[in-house]
Amino acid sequence: MAAYASNETVGDDSQVVERITPDQIRAAKGGIPLVTLTAYTYPIARLLDPHVELLLVGDSVAMVLHGHANTLGATMDMMIAHGQAVMRGARRACVVVDMPAGSYEKSPAHALKSARRIMAETGCSAVKLEGGEVMAKHISAITGAGIPVLGHIGLLPQSVEKEGGYKIKGKTDDNIAALFRDAKAVEASGAFAVVIEGVIEPVAAEITRQISIPTIGIGASAACDGQILVIDDALGLTVDRVPKFVKEYANLRDHVSAAGAQYATEVRSRSFPQPQHTFQKPVAKPQ
Ligand code: KIV
Repeated sequence: MAAYASNETVGDDSQVVERITPDQIRAAKGGIPLVTLTAYTYPIARLLDPHVELLLVGDSVAMVLHGHANTLGATMDMMIAHGQAVMRGARRACVVVDMPAGSYEKSPAHALKSARRIMAETGCSAVKLEGGEVMAKHISAITGAGIPVLGHIGLLPQSVEKEGGYKIKGKTDDNIAALFRDAKAVEASGAFAVVIEGVIEPVAAEITRQISIPTIGIGASAACDGQILVIDDALGLTVDRVPKFVKEYANLRDHVSAAGAQYATEVRSRSFPQPQHTFQKPVAKPQ
C-alpha cells in the first residue's frame, strides 16, 4: 500500500503526510491485503500508524478499556473522545469511528445525525455501523450525505443480548443466503468496504469474490481483502477470555504484570527512586 495518493494532507509543513482515504481503501479491492487494527488511544495510534492502512476506533473500547461486559456499554461521548485521541496520533491511516448501539438504528435520519456529529467532533475519515439488509437505508442516508461508511456483517457484537451470545454465522443454507443479501445490500448502499466477522471460512471467501468492495475479515478468511484484530488482543493484553480467531503478536500481559511487581518491590525497599531520578539542590561553586 505504498503508492497511495491523496488530496487530504495532515501535519505541519516540515512533515506533510498524506492520509489514506476511504476511496483508496475501496480501490484496494483484490490487491495486497489491507492491514487494519483497532486503536483507542493517542500513543497506540502513533505507534501503529506507519504500519496500517486503516485504524478503527471500535466500540470494543467499551470492553477493552472501560471494562464493560459487551459493546453495548459504548456511548457517543466515549466514541468521540477516543476518536479525537486516535486522530491526534494517526497522521496517515484512514481513521474510522464506530457508531455505538442506540445511535443509529431508530431511523436513517437518526443515523445521519449521529454520523454527522462523530465526523464533526473527531475529524475522522468515516463511520462504521453494524447490520446488512436491515440497515441499508441507514447506510444510504449517511453515504448520500457524503459521509463514507464501513459496513459490518456476520457476527454483530451489538446484537449479543438479542441473540443470547456470540454466534458464528454461515452454518445453514438460510443463514448463508442472508449473509449474501447483507453483503450485497451494504455494497449497494454505497459503503466503501465491509467488515465480515465470525463467519464460516468458505462463506466469507465466496462473499469476498462476489462483491465489488473490500471485505475486512475478523474470524473469517485469509481470502478477505484485509484483516482486522482488536489491538489489545493482538498485543496479548486481554485479561479475560481470548477468542479463537485471535493471534497474539506479543505478550504484554506478562510484561505489565512483571513491571508492576518489580516497581512494588523497589518502592517498598526504597531502591527506587535512585539519585539519577531525583532533583538535588545545586552545589554553590567555590569563589
Ligand atoms: O468494535 C470493534 O472492535 C469491531 C471490530 C471487531 C471489527 O467492530
